[in-house]
Amino acid sequence: MKMCMIGTGYVGLVSGTCFADLGNKVYCVDKDQNKINKLKNAISPIYEPGLDDLIRNNFKAKRLDFTSDLEKAVKDSQLIFICVGTPTKKGSNLVDLSQVFNVAKSISKYIKSYKIIITKSTVPVTTGDQIEKIISRKVKKSLFDVVSNPEFLREGEAIRDFKYPDRIVIGSNNKKIFKKMELLYEPLIKKGAKFFCTSRKGAELIKYASNAFLATKITFINEIANLCETAGINIEDISVGMGSDERIGSRFLRAGPAYGGSCFPKDTKGLVSIANKFKSNLSIVKSVIKSNQNRKILLTKRVLKIMNNKIKNKKIAVLGVTFKANTDDMRESSSLVLIPFLLKKGAKVSYHDPSGPKNEFGKKKNLNFASSINKACLGADLIIINTEWDEFKSIDFKKIVKKNNFKIYDMRNLYNPIELEKRNIKYYSVGRSKL
Ligand code: UDX
Repeated sequence: MKMCMIGTGYVGLVSGTCFADLGNKVYCVDKDQNKINKLKNAISPIYEPGLDDLIRNNFKAKRLDFTSDLEKAVKDSQLIFICVGTPTKKGSNLVDLSQVFNVAKSISKYIKSYKIIITKSTVPVTTGDQIEKIISRKVKKSLFDVVSNPEFLREGEAIRDFKYPDRIVIGSNNKKIFKKMELLYEPLIKKGAKFFCTSRKGAELIKYASNAFLATKITFINEIANLCETAGINIEDISVGMGSDERIGSRFLRAGPAYGGSCFPKDTKGLVSIANKFKSNLSIVKSVIKSNQNRKILLTKRVLKIMNNKIKNKKIAVLGVTFKANTDDMRESSSLVLIPFLLKKGAKVSYHDPSGPKNEFGKKKNLNFASSINKACLGADLIIINTEWDEFKSIDFKKIVKKNNFKIYDMRNLYNPIELEKRNIKYYSVGRSKL
Protein backbone atom coordinates (compact mmCIF):
# COMPACT_ATOMS: atom_id res chain seq x y z
CA MET A 1 0.00 0.00 0.00
CA LYS A 2 1.06 3.63 -0.44
CA MET A 3 1.16 5.68 2.71
CA CYS A 4 2.67 8.68 4.40
CA MET A 5 3.67 9.24 8.00
CA ILE A 6 3.38 12.87 9.03
CA GLY A 7 5.94 13.56 11.74
CA THR A 8 9.25 11.73 11.87
CA GLY A 9 9.50 11.46 15.64
CA TYR A 10 9.50 8.20 17.47
CA VAL A 11 6.18 6.78 16.33
CA GLY A 12 6.27 8.07 12.75
CA LEU A 13 9.80 7.08 11.95
CA VAL A 14 9.75 3.63 13.52
CA SER A 15 6.34 2.65 12.16
CA GLY A 16 7.03 4.20 8.74
CA THR A 17 10.31 2.31 8.41
CA CYS A 18 8.73 -0.93 9.58
CA PHE A 19 5.76 -0.54 7.22
CA ALA A 20 8.25 -0.08 4.38
CA ASP A 21 10.07 -3.20 5.55
CA LEU A 22 6.77 -5.08 5.17
CA GLY A 23 6.78 -4.09 1.49
CA ASN A 24 4.71 -0.89 1.49
CA LYS A 25 5.67 2.36 -0.22
CA VAL A 26 6.13 4.90 2.57
CA TYR A 27 6.84 8.64 2.68
CA CYS A 28 8.03 10.01 6.00
CA VAL A 29 7.16 13.69 6.05
CA ASP A 30 8.65 16.37 8.24
CA LYS A 31 8.76 20.17 8.08
CA ASP A 32 12.38 20.11 9.21
CA GLN A 33 14.45 19.92 5.98
CA ASN A 34 17.65 19.33 7.94
CA LYS A 35 16.11 16.22 9.50
CA ILE A 36 14.96 15.03 6.08
CA ASN A 37 18.46 15.43 4.61
CA LYS A 38 19.97 13.44 7.46
CA LEU A 39 17.35 10.70 7.12
CA LYS A 40 18.17 10.35 3.43
CA ASN A 41 21.69 9.48 4.60
CA ALA A 42 20.26 6.99 7.12
CA ILE A 43 21.10 9.24 10.07
CA SER A 44 18.26 8.77 12.48
CA PRO A 45 17.28 11.69 14.76
CA ILE A 46 16.36 9.20 17.47
CA TYR A 47 18.38 6.55 19.26
CA GLU A 48 16.79 3.19 18.56
CA PRO A 49 18.83 0.02 18.22
CA GLY A 50 18.62 -1.39 14.67
CA LEU A 51 16.73 1.55 13.20
CA ASP A 52 19.55 3.10 11.12
CA ASP A 53 20.12 -0.16 9.22
CA LEU A 54 16.43 -0.63 8.58
CA ILE A 55 16.17 2.94 7.26
CA ARG A 56 19.21 2.46 5.00
CA ASN A 57 17.95 -0.83 3.53
CA ASN A 58 14.43 0.37 2.84
CA PHE A 59 15.58 3.72 1.46
CA LYS A 60 17.94 1.90 -0.92
CA ALA A 61 15.12 -0.42 -1.95
CA LYS A 62 13.04 2.70 -2.73
CA ARG A 63 10.23 1.59 -0.44
CA LEU A 64 10.99 4.39 2.00
CA ASP A 65 11.41 8.06 1.18
CA PHE A 66 11.78 11.24 3.20
CA THR A 67 10.30 14.54 2.17
CA SER A 68 9.07 17.89 3.38
CA ASP A 69 6.64 18.06 0.45
CA LEU A 70 3.36 17.35 2.23
CA GLU A 71 1.24 17.93 -0.88
CA LYS A 72 3.02 15.27 -2.92
CA ALA A 73 3.03 12.79 -0.03
CA VAL A 74 -0.71 13.22 0.60
CA LYS A 75 -1.63 13.02 -3.09
CA ASP A 76 0.43 9.84 -3.60
CA SER A 77 -0.87 8.04 -0.51
CA GLN A 78 -3.97 6.00 0.23
CA LEU A 79 -3.24 6.03 3.95
CA ILE A 80 -2.19 9.15 5.86
CA PHE A 81 -0.83 8.56 9.35
CA ILE A 82 -0.73 11.45 11.82
CA CYS A 83 2.31 10.88 14.04
CA VAL A 84 3.12 14.29 15.51
CA GLY A 85 3.78 15.04 19.17
CA THR A 86 1.04 15.51 21.77
CA PRO A 87 2.90 17.02 24.75
CA THR A 88 1.38 18.15 28.04
CA LYS A 89 0.45 21.84 28.08
CA LYS A 90 2.73 23.79 30.39
CA GLY A 91 1.30 24.23 33.89
CA SER A 92 -1.62 21.81 33.43
CA ASN A 93 -2.54 18.20 32.77
CA LEU A 94 -4.14 19.10 29.45
CA VAL A 95 -2.87 17.60 26.19
CA ASP A 96 -1.57 20.08 23.63
CA LEU A 97 -3.18 19.02 20.36
CA SER A 98 -2.08 21.99 18.27
CA GLN A 99 0.32 19.91 16.12
CA VAL A 100 -2.37 17.31 15.38
CA PHE A 101 -4.92 19.95 14.40
CA ASN A 102 -2.37 21.81 12.26
CA VAL A 103 -1.69 18.60 10.35
CA ALA A 104 -5.44 18.05 9.87
CA LYS A 105 -5.77 21.57 8.46
CA SER A 106 -2.75 21.19 6.18
CA ILE A 107 -3.72 17.84 4.70
CA SER A 108 -7.29 18.97 4.08
CA LYS A 109 -5.91 21.31 1.38
CA TYR A 110 -4.55 18.38 -0.62
CA ILE A 111 -7.22 15.67 -0.40
CA LYS A 112 -8.70 15.24 -3.88
CA SER A 113 -9.36 11.48 -3.85
CA TYR A 114 -10.41 9.04 -1.11
CA LYS A 115 -7.97 8.77 1.85
CA ILE A 116 -7.93 7.04 5.20
CA ILE A 117 -6.52 9.35 7.85
CA ILE A 118 -5.10 7.39 10.75
CA THR A 119 -4.12 8.86 14.08
CA LYS A 120 -1.10 7.10 15.59
CA SER A 121 -0.23 9.95 17.94
CA THR A 122 -1.61 9.38 21.44
CA VAL A 123 -4.68 11.61 21.50
CA PRO A 124 -7.51 12.15 24.00
CA VAL A 125 -10.95 10.69 23.45
CA THR A 126 -12.92 12.71 20.83
CA THR A 127 -9.80 13.98 19.02
CA GLY A 128 -10.80 11.87 16.00
CA ASP A 129 -14.16 13.70 15.95
CA GLN A 130 -12.36 17.04 15.96
CA ILE A 131 -9.96 15.99 13.19
CA GLU A 132 -12.97 14.91 11.13
CA LYS A 133 -14.62 18.28 11.70
CA ILE A 134 -11.52 20.20 10.63
CA ILE A 135 -11.02 18.18 7.45
CA SER A 136 -14.69 18.30 6.50
CA ARG A 137 -14.50 22.10 6.31
CA LYS A 138 -12.56 21.64 3.07
CA VAL A 139 -13.23 18.04 1.98
CA LYS A 140 -16.45 16.13 1.18
CA LYS A 141 -17.21 13.46 3.86
CA SER A 142 -17.26 10.74 1.17
CA LEU A 143 -13.59 11.44 0.40
CA PHE A 144 -12.12 10.47 3.77
CA ASP A 145 -12.41 8.46 6.97
CA VAL A 146 -10.65 9.22 10.24
CA VAL A 147 -9.40 6.17 12.10
CA SER A 148 -7.60 5.67 15.41
CA ASN A 149 -4.73 3.17 15.44
CA PRO A 150 -2.74 3.72 18.64
CA GLU A 151 0.87 2.62 18.88
CA PHE A 152 2.27 0.63 21.80
CA LEU A 153 5.99 0.80 20.96
CA ARG A 154 8.54 0.90 23.76
CA GLU A 155 11.68 2.93 23.24
CA GLY A 156 14.67 0.65 22.80
CA GLU A 157 12.40 -2.26 21.77
CA ALA A 158 10.39 -0.39 19.17
CA ILE A 159 11.27 -2.46 16.10
CA ARG A 160 10.56 -5.73 17.85
CA ASP A 161 7.35 -4.29 19.30
CA PHE A 162 6.23 -3.20 15.82
CA LYS A 163 7.03 -6.54 14.22
CA TYR A 164 5.60 -8.71 16.99
CA PRO A 165 2.82 -6.74 18.64
CA ASP A 166 0.50 -8.37 21.18
CA ARG A 167 -2.40 -6.61 19.55
CA ILE A 168 -3.31 -4.15 16.82
CA VAL A 169 -6.13 -1.82 17.80
CA ILE A 170 -8.26 -0.12 15.16
CA GLY A 171 -10.98 2.34 16.06
CA SER A 172 -13.40 3.47 13.40
CA ASN A 173 -17.02 4.51 13.20
CA ASN A 174 -17.14 3.17 9.64
CA LYS A 175 -17.01 -0.64 9.75
CA LYS A 176 -15.83 -0.89 6.12
CA ILE A 177 -12.42 0.39 7.24
CA PHE A 178 -11.64 -2.66 9.35
CA LYS A 179 -11.08 -4.95 6.34
CA LYS A 180 -8.67 -2.44 4.75
CA MET A 181 -6.70 -2.06 7.96
CA GLU A 182 -6.62 -5.83 8.41
CA LEU A 183 -5.03 -6.11 4.98
CA LEU A 184 -2.34 -3.61 5.95
CA TYR A 185 -1.50 -5.52 9.11
CA GLU A 186 -1.94 -9.00 7.61
CA PRO A 187 1.79 -9.95 7.88
CA LEU A 188 1.74 -9.20 11.61
CA ILE A 189 -1.63 -10.86 12.20
CA LYS A 190 -0.28 -14.00 10.51
CA LYS A 191 2.55 -14.02 13.04
CA GLY A 192 0.02 -14.08 15.89
CA ALA A 193 -0.93 -10.46 16.64
CA LYS A 194 -4.50 -10.06 17.83
CA PHE A 195 -6.47 -7.73 15.56
CA PHE A 196 -9.02 -5.84 17.60
CA CYS A 197 -11.63 -3.48 16.18
CA THR A 198 -13.68 -1.00 18.15
CA SER A 199 -15.17 2.48 17.95
CA ARG A 200 -12.83 5.41 17.31
CA LYS A 201 -13.27 6.77 20.83
CA GLY A 202 -12.76 3.27 22.20
CA ALA A 203 -9.37 2.96 20.49
CA GLU A 204 -8.34 6.40 21.74
CA LEU A 205 -9.13 5.38 25.30
CA ILE A 206 -7.46 1.95 25.04
CA LYS A 207 -4.10 3.65 24.54
CA TYR A 208 -4.42 5.90 27.60
CA ALA A 209 -5.93 3.18 29.77
CA SER A 210 -3.11 0.75 28.82
CA ASN A 211 -0.35 3.18 29.69
CA ALA A 212 -2.08 4.26 32.90
CA PHE A 213 -2.54 0.63 33.91
CA LEU A 214 1.14 -0.19 33.34
CA ALA A 215 2.15 2.93 35.27
CA THR A 216 -0.17 1.80 38.08
CA LYS A 217 1.39 -1.66 38.10
CA ILE A 218 4.89 -0.19 38.46
CA THR A 219 3.79 2.27 41.12
CA PHE A 220 2.06 -0.53 43.01
CA ILE A 221 5.18 -2.68 43.12
CA ASN A 222 7.29 0.36 44.06
CA GLU A 223 5.07 1.00 47.07
CA ILE A 224 5.19 -2.69 48.01
CA ALA A 225 8.99 -2.36 47.77
CA ASN A 226 8.82 0.38 50.41
CA LEU A 227 6.87 -1.98 52.64
CA CYS A 228 9.40 -4.77 52.02
CA GLU A 229 12.20 -2.51 53.19
CA THR A 230 10.59 -1.83 56.53
CA ALA A 231 9.32 -5.40 56.96
CA GLY A 232 12.61 -7.07 55.94
CA ILE A 233 11.22 -8.92 52.91
CA ASN A 234 12.77 -9.36 49.48
CA ILE A 235 10.74 -7.49 46.79
CA GLU A 236 11.92 -9.86 44.04
CA ASP A 237 10.20 -12.74 45.83
CA ILE A 238 6.99 -10.74 45.89
CA SER A 239 7.26 -9.89 42.16
CA VAL A 240 7.82 -13.55 41.27
CA GLY A 241 5.15 -14.83 43.63
CA MET A 242 2.58 -12.33 42.40
CA GLY A 243 3.60 -12.44 38.75
CA SER A 244 3.18 -16.22 38.54
CA ASP A 245 -0.55 -15.66 38.83
CA GLU A 246 -1.53 -15.42 35.18
CA ARG A 247 -4.24 -12.91 36.05
CA ILE A 248 -1.51 -10.56 37.28
CA GLY A 249 1.42 -11.41 34.98
CA SER A 250 5.10 -10.95 35.73
CA ARG A 251 5.93 -8.03 33.43
CA PHE A 252 6.10 -4.44 34.70
CA LEU A 253 6.49 -5.67 38.25
CA ARG A 254 10.12 -4.61 38.62
CA ALA A 255 10.61 -2.21 41.49
CA GLY A 256 12.98 0.64 40.80
CA PRO A 257 13.17 4.40 40.61
CA ALA A 258 10.02 6.23 39.60
CA TYR A 259 8.80 5.49 36.07
CA GLY A 260 9.79 8.11 33.51
CA GLY A 261 9.89 8.59 29.76
CA SER A 262 7.83 10.39 27.21
CA CYS A 263 4.64 8.39 27.69
CA PHE A 264 3.67 7.23 31.18
CA PRO A 265 4.04 10.62 32.91
CA LYS A 266 2.34 12.45 30.03
CA ASP A 267 -0.43 9.91 29.42
CA THR A 268 -1.43 9.44 33.07
CA LYS A 269 -1.88 13.22 33.32
CA GLY A 270 -3.66 13.29 29.96
CA LEU A 271 -6.08 10.57 31.08
CA VAL A 272 -6.96 12.48 34.24
CA SER A 273 -7.71 15.59 32.21
CA ILE A 274 -9.89 13.62 29.75
CA ALA A 275 -11.79 12.11 32.70
CA ASN A 276 -12.27 15.56 34.22
CA LYS A 277 -13.78 16.71 30.97
CA PHE A 278 -16.30 13.88 31.24
CA LYS A 279 -16.78 14.60 34.96
CA SER A 280 -15.30 11.29 36.00
CA ASN A 281 -12.91 11.05 38.93
CA LEU A 282 -9.96 8.73 38.22
CA SER A 283 -8.74 8.67 41.80
CA ILE A 284 -6.39 5.70 41.26
CA VAL A 285 -4.55 7.34 38.36
CA LYS A 286 -4.31 10.59 40.31
CA SER A 287 -2.67 8.83 43.22
CA VAL A 288 -0.31 6.98 40.87
CA ILE A 289 0.90 10.31 39.50
CA LYS A 290 1.46 11.65 43.00
CA SER A 291 3.13 8.49 44.29
CA ASN A 292 5.50 8.44 41.31
CA GLN A 293 6.47 12.09 41.81
CA ASN A 294 7.09 11.44 45.52
CA ARG A 295 9.20 8.40 44.70
CA LYS A 296 11.81 10.45 42.84
CA ILE A 297 12.34 12.50 45.99
CA LEU A 298 12.14 9.50 48.33
CA LEU A 299 14.83 7.55 46.52
CA THR A 300 17.02 10.61 46.10
CA LYS A 301 16.88 11.47 49.81
CA ARG A 302 17.99 7.94 50.67
CA VAL A 303 21.45 8.93 49.51
CA LEU A 304 21.67 11.07 52.66
CA LYS A 305 20.94 8.04 54.85
CA ILE A 306 23.37 5.84 52.97
CA MET A 307 26.11 8.45 53.34
CA ASN A 308 25.23 9.31 56.96
CA ASN A 309 24.44 12.86 55.84
CA LYS A 310 28.04 13.37 54.68
CA ILE A 311 27.83 14.20 51.02
CA LYS A 312 29.82 17.42 50.74
CA ASN A 313 32.98 16.87 48.66
CA LYS A 314 32.23 13.15 48.31
CA LYS A 315 32.87 11.62 44.94
CA ILE A 316 29.66 10.09 43.61
CA ALA A 317 29.47 8.10 40.39
CA VAL A 318 26.09 7.81 38.68
CA LEU A 319 25.75 4.96 36.20
CA GLY A 320 22.99 5.61 33.69
CA VAL A 321 20.95 8.79 33.52
CA THR A 322 18.30 8.07 30.88
CA PHE A 323 14.82 7.06 32.03
CA LYS A 324 15.58 3.44 31.19
CA ALA A 325 18.17 1.39 29.29
CA ASN A 326 18.64 1.32 25.48
CA THR A 327 17.47 4.86 24.90
CA ASP A 328 19.06 8.30 24.97
CA ASP A 329 15.81 9.81 26.24
CA MET A 330 16.09 11.91 29.38
CA ARG A 331 12.45 12.91 29.59
CA GLU A 332 11.12 12.61 33.15
CA SER A 333 14.16 10.58 34.18
CA SER A 334 14.64 10.34 37.94
CA SER A 335 18.27 11.39 37.38
CA LEU A 336 16.99 14.91 36.69
CA VAL A 337 16.00 15.06 40.37
CA LEU A 338 18.90 12.98 41.70
CA ILE A 339 21.91 14.73 40.14
CA PRO A 340 20.88 18.35 40.93
CA PHE A 341 20.20 17.23 44.52
CA LEU A 342 23.67 15.69 44.87
CA LEU A 343 25.30 18.80 43.43
CA LYS A 344 23.31 21.05 45.74
CA LYS A 345 24.56 19.04 48.69
CA GLY A 346 28.15 19.64 47.55
CA ALA A 347 28.97 16.25 46.00
CA LYS A 348 31.38 15.83 43.10
CA VAL A 349 29.42 13.88 40.55
CA SER A 350 30.79 11.89 37.67
CA TYR A 351 28.19 10.19 35.48
CA HIS A 352 28.47 7.69 32.71
CA ASP A 353 25.76 6.78 30.25
CA PRO A 354 26.26 4.51 27.21
CA SER A 355 24.14 6.95 25.17
CA GLY A 356 26.59 9.79 25.81
CA PRO A 357 26.70 13.11 27.69
CA LYS A 358 23.50 15.06 28.33
CA ASN A 359 22.73 18.76 27.88
CA GLU A 360 19.81 18.52 30.30
CA PHE A 361 22.09 18.99 33.33
CA GLY A 362 23.67 22.14 31.91
CA LYS A 363 27.29 23.03 32.62
CA LYS A 364 27.91 22.57 36.35
CA LYS A 365 31.12 22.98 38.28
CA ASN A 366 31.12 19.66 40.11
CA LEU A 367 29.55 17.56 37.38
CA ASN A 368 31.33 15.73 34.64
CA PHE A 369 30.54 13.09 32.05
CA ALA A 370 32.92 10.12 32.20
CA SER A 371 33.52 8.33 28.93
CA SER A 372 33.65 4.90 30.61
CA ILE A 373 32.33 3.05 33.64
CA ASN A 374 35.88 2.74 34.96
CA LYS A 375 36.57 6.47 34.71
CA ALA A 376 33.27 7.32 36.44
CA CYS A 377 33.88 4.90 39.32
CA LEU A 378 37.59 5.45 39.95
CA GLY A 379 37.99 6.69 43.53
CA ALA A 380 34.23 6.96 44.12
CA ASP A 381 32.80 7.05 47.63
CA LEU A 382 29.39 6.06 46.32
CA ILE A 383 28.24 4.47 43.07
CA ILE A 384 24.59 4.92 42.17
CA ILE A 385 23.15 2.63 39.52
CA ASN A 386 20.21 4.54 38.09
CA THR A 387 19.56 2.70 34.80
CA GLU A 388 19.64 -0.99 33.92
CA TRP A 389 21.98 -0.96 30.88
CA ASP A 390 23.52 -4.40 30.25
CA GLU A 391 27.02 -2.94 30.64
CA PHE A 392 26.27 -2.21 34.32
CA LYS A 393 25.25 -5.76 35.19
CA SER A 394 28.58 -7.44 35.87
CA ILE A 395 31.05 -4.84 37.05
CA ASP A 396 33.99 -5.86 39.22
CA PHE A 397 33.60 -2.85 41.50
CA LYS A 398 36.60 -3.53 43.74
CA LYS A 399 38.87 -3.67 40.73
CA ILE A 400 37.73 -0.39 39.20
CA VAL A 401 37.08 1.82 42.24
CA LYS A 402 40.58 1.15 43.56
CA LYS A 403 39.82 2.22 47.12
CA ASN A 404 38.26 0.78 50.28
CA ASN A 405 34.98 1.67 51.90
CA PHE A 406 33.03 2.72 48.87
CA LYS A 407 29.29 2.08 48.82
CA ILE A 408 26.85 1.07 46.10
CA TYR A 409 23.25 2.25 45.80
CA ASP A 410 21.60 0.07 43.19
CA MET A 411 18.20 1.52 42.23
CA ARG A 412 17.59 -1.28 39.70
CA ASN A 413 18.50 -4.30 41.86
CA LEU A 414 21.03 -5.56 39.32
CA TYR A 415 23.25 -7.27 41.90
CA ASN A 416 22.89 -10.02 44.47
CA PRO A 417 23.29 -8.47 47.96
CA ILE A 418 24.74 -11.69 49.40
CA GLU A 419 27.47 -11.87 46.77
CA LEU A 420 28.51 -8.26 47.38
CA GLU A 421 28.39 -8.70 51.13
CA LYS A 422 30.77 -11.66 50.75
CA ARG A 423 33.18 -9.30 49.00
CA ASN A 424 32.82 -6.76 51.83
CA ILE A 425 31.10 -4.18 49.66
CA LYS A 426 28.45 -2.02 51.32
CA TYR A 427 25.47 -2.46 49.05
CA TYR A 428 22.03 -0.85 49.17
CA SER A 429 19.19 -1.62 46.79
CA VAL A 430 15.45 -1.21 46.44
CA GLY A 431 12.87 -3.23 48.36
CA ARG A 432 15.32 -5.61 49.97
CA SER A 433 17.62 -3.88 52.43
CA LYS A 434 16.60 -2.03 55.55
CA LEU A 435 17.78 1.55 55.39
C1 UDX B 1 5.77 2.94 27.27
C2 UDX B 1 4.83 1.77 26.94
O1 UDX B 1 5.40 0.54 27.42
C3 UDX B 1 4.57 1.69 25.45
O2 UDX B 1 3.64 0.66 25.18
C4 UDX B 1 4.00 3.04 25.00
O3 UDX B 1 3.75 3.05 23.62
C5 UDX B 1 4.97 4.15 25.35
O4 UDX B 1 5.22 4.13 26.76
P1 UDX B 1 8.39 3.43 27.12
O5 UDX B 1 8.07 4.78 27.66
O6 UDX B 1 9.34 3.30 25.98
O7 UDX B 1 7.04 2.68 26.67
O8 UDX B 1 9.02 2.61 28.33
P2 UDX B 1 8.69 1.33 29.21
O9 UDX B 1 9.62 0.25 28.85
O10 UDX B 1 7.26 1.01 29.22
O11 UDX B 1 9.13 1.88 30.65
C6 UDX B 1 8.52 3.06 31.20
C7 UDX B 1 9.10 3.35 32.57
O12 UDX B 1 8.72 2.36 33.50
C8 UDX B 1 10.62 3.38 32.60
O13 UDX B 1 11.04 4.43 33.45
C9 UDX B 1 11.01 2.04 33.20
O14 UDX B 1 12.25 2.04 33.85
C10 UDX B 1 9.86 1.83 34.19
N1 UDX B 1 9.61 0.43 34.53
C11 UDX B 1 9.16 -0.45 33.58
C12 UDX B 1 9.80 -0.01 35.84
O15 UDX B 1 10.20 0.77 36.72
N2 UDX B 1 9.51 -1.29 36.16
C13 UDX B 1 9.05 -2.19 35.24
O16 UDX B 1 8.80 -3.35 35.62
C14 UDX B 1 8.88 -1.75 33.91
